[in-house]
Amino acid sequence: MKTIDSPFKLKGLQLKNRIVMAPMCQYSVDKEDGIPNDWHFVHYVSRAIGGTGLIIMEMTGVTPEGRITNQDLGLWDDAQIPAYKRIVSEVHKYGSKIGIQIAHAGRKAEDAIQPVAPLLYKVTLYLRKQNMVDLNNHVL
Ligand SMILES: Cc1cc2nc3c(=O)[nH]c(=O)nc-3n(C[C@H](O)[C@H](O)[C@H](O)COP(=O)(O)O)c2cc1C
Repeated sequence: MKTIDSPFKLKGLQLKNRIVMAPMCQYSVDKEDGIPNDWHFVHYVSRAIGGTGLIIMEMTGVTPEGRITNQDLGLWDDAQIPAYKRIVSEVHKYGSKIGIQIAHAGRKAEDAIQPVAPLLYKVTLYLRKQNMVDLNNHVL
């Protein structure tokens, strides 16, 4: 019988057990630069030490305006790579696999000055055509 601690294989991915950590936003990037800090390092590596087979890192914005908040993780600049590499290398030392949830928050980007979302853009164009908003999206 397969138990939670039995190995799992999916194509080239071999997990030591069936314990998977779901992505959970930490909203903890104090510097707002998208770069994982010591909080993230401890948060993920401690789960690997605890025996998790697969860790999925939290929702990570692929552009600054694609984050839910400015405290979200980001992955849009090479300068962000070393901090991720540090986490991945350490997690691997404990036999865990690690992935990441890349995402774009669209209209749910709470801190973005101008959220980027296809439908929002269409609505904005429509409202402008109807002379309901000006070019700064202020209601007329
Ligand atoms: C603190 C917290 C942060 C979360 N952040 C994310 C996230 O970044 N991405 C995501 O898809 N789901 C997120 N979720 C949802 C979880 O990944 C998960 O789907 C949800 O907790 C349901 O799983 P459960 O029934 O095992 O708790 C978050 C949940 C919690 C509690």
